Amino acid sequence: MEITAETEHIEIRLLLEAIYLKYGYDFRSYAEASISRRIKRNMRLNGCPHISELQHRILHDARAFQQLMTDLSVSVTEMFRNPDFYQSLRQQIVPGLLQIPFVKIWCAGCASGEEVYSLAILLKEEGVTQQLQIYATDINESALQIAEKGIYPLDKVKEYTSNYHRINGRGDFVDYYTALYDNAVMRSGLKRNITFAHHNMVTDGSFGEMNLILCRNVMIYFNRDLQNRVFQLFCDSLIPGGFLCLGSRETIQYANCANQFDPVNVHEKIYRKKFPCPGL
Ligand SMILES: C[S@@+](CC[C@H](N)C(=O)[O-])C[C@H]1O[C@@H](n2cnc3c(N)ncnc32)[C@H](O)[C@@H]1O
Repeated sequence: MEITAETEHIEIRLLLEAIYLKYGYDFRSYAEASISRRIKRNMRLNGCPHISELQHRILHDARAFQQLMTDLSVSVTEMFRNPDFYQSLRQQIVPGLLQIPFVKIWCAGCASGEEVYSLAILLKEEGVTQQLQIYATDINESALQIAEKGIYPLDKVKEYTSNYHRINGRGDFVDYYTALYDNAVMRSGLKRNITFAHHNMVTDGSFGEMNLILCRNVMIYFNRDLQNRVFQLFCDSLIPGGFLCLGSRETIQYANCANQFDPVNVHEKIYRKKFPCPGL
């Protein structure tokens, strides 16, 4: 039987509604083209011929849901991803952080943690060693578990070392991990200021008084409505003068709260929350 695009659209909406009602994860406002690709991939890998059958499976089998959840939440990442961004972070944000007695940072959608370790290394090298608290959050539990352990395949280290050189790292990348069999185990000192936590940007509340939020390569999977909601969440979570960093293909330009931010580096997608106007 031929399934029309309209029927498929209905089936996807029903599946996302079922996930929301049963498990509380809200993928209903994620960009449909990407969600649809990931659902079909999951169906191929699990030999599931119809979306309605997948819906039945995930409602009755929590493991099937976990697998789909992993597929839906794309956790591709790497250390020092887009090295030029880290150079800008060093030059345009770190000097301000050095002036603050207690620095609070939120790395939202941290996936398996490579981004937050990159950040921790950069801050350590730049001497942001005063009181520092970094919250690293994600909805994907299995990615978060990897993040907390900080253990990565050794065969990725060559690429990460090359990225580290491209950000003009001040030391040697090898100083930040211990090689253990086929793995690189990140030095425990890097985790000292990091709190890993489950947090869903779609359904959970804001984090208060942040000086810096990194949310890179996450919004790209959200539709415009959801992007607006999440940008507002970040706006509420930042102090005036706090920075927001997005991924290279993301922008705050079209968000409802765009006028509450100034661009700091348009190319590297770094924005700063405005200070309130005196007298308002
Ligand atoms: C492509 S990864 C980006 C990782 C990292 N920020 C980077 O740029 O390398 C996207 C991450 O966003 C997470 N994510 C997606 N929707 C989310 C939500 N509603 N709340 C929290 N995290 C979410 C996914 O689980 C995934 O780990």
